[in-house]
Amino acid sequence: MKPLLRALAGETLDPPPVWMMRQAGRYLPEYRELRSQAGSFLDLCKTPEMAEEVTLQPIRRYGLDGAILFSDILVVPQALGQKLWFEEGLGPRLEPLDETADLSRLSTSAFHERLQPVYETLKRLSQSVPQEVTRLGFAGAPWTVASYMIEGGSSRDFFKSRLWAYRDPAGFEKLIDLLVDVTSEYLIQQVLAGAETVQLFDSWAGIWTDEGFRRWSLAPSRRIIEKIHEACPGVPVIFFPRGAGVLYQECAMESGAQALSLDSSVPLEWARDNLQPHVALQGNLDPACLMAGGTVLDEATRRLVSVLGKGPFIFNLGHGIDKATPPENVNRMLEVLRGKSAQ
Ligand code: CP3
Repeated sequence: MKPLLRALAGETLDPPPVWMMRQAGRYLPEYRELRSQAGSFLDLCKTPEMAEEVTLQPIRRYGLDGAILFSDILVVPQALGQKLWFEEGLGPRLEPLDETADLSRLSTSAFHERLQPVYETLKRLSQSVPQEVTRLGFAGAPWTVASYMIEGGSSRDFFKSRLWAYRDPAGFEKLIDLLVDVTSEYLIQQVLAGAETVQLFDSWAGIWTDEGFRRWSLAPSRRIIEKIHEACPGVPVIFFPRGAGVLYQECAMESGAQALSLDSSVPLEWARDNLQPHVALQGNLDPACLMAGGTVLDEATRRLVSVLGKGPFIFNLGHGIDKATPPENVNRMLEVLRGKSAQ
């Protein structure tokens, strides 16, 4: 079995398998080159030959253990008919939904057809990703995707979304339920097209109260994970409830995921003692530490492996790599990881 899949099955590997969130992206000159040829980021996502090439770039450069599909979590609302565009420097923009929104304006009729390029990219990757490298699919969790749909883009605190959930929980639940259904279908199709595992990104899970977290982050994600396991027995799922704090423990017990991806704020010894007995762990090097490089990077890499590397573990970052990261810092991190992990 491939190293990353072995770790997801609960094995301890030395050195641990490694990949990085947002490993394909603007910190790589070869990405910037292809991105300028593609015209827009969305064209890059929706052109299978180019998305395939971008997926492979960090694998060629670094020999990572996981190749994550190149796409974006926001292609799901787009496939439901919500207008999506990316503005240079501003990030994603969508025509916002509000509490009075008629959800029937969102339509599932062309959903899979609009996502066909994503499935096609995964089919191509099944041929081109090296033997030992695991192919990862992904989607955003319902809460995180809903928050972008409601705010119309990124936000500091997703206040409008939370307000909707408090004022009109039944209406808000309809949107979440729709996202549970389509996201499950989407991830199952990704597996059928060649993804060997999938990661569910709940990037804004951490802004909820405990009750809000259980209802709007954990429960919908658990339903998706259940549906994937029913349709695709044996396919492991990685859940990333970023910012969940102590509630990571409930995720370990109840989400049904085989692995939890940890953000950088999760204390390592706590995670080792409270989470790792139940699930494989992934994470959680601070992307700023990777950008800083030097001895702080060496030390953080060694510490991470020495604490979490004695159980099922996938080395990764606590969030996506930043676009200003020097690419050679990744080489340094990998040298430390692969050369000294036995300490
Ligand atoms: O990990 C990978 O290499 C796979 C590709 C991937 C992208 N986005 C490519 C991307 C993945 C897994 C994502 C997930 C994603 N997208 C999330 C969840 C993870 C997280 O970071 O919390 C979220 C919230 C989004 C939404 C999104 N897409 C934002 C906020 C932005 C702007 C970010 C920025 O740095 O400008 C994007 C754009 C985006 N997605 C880029 C890439 C490579 C940059 C696009 C470009 O200009 O080339």
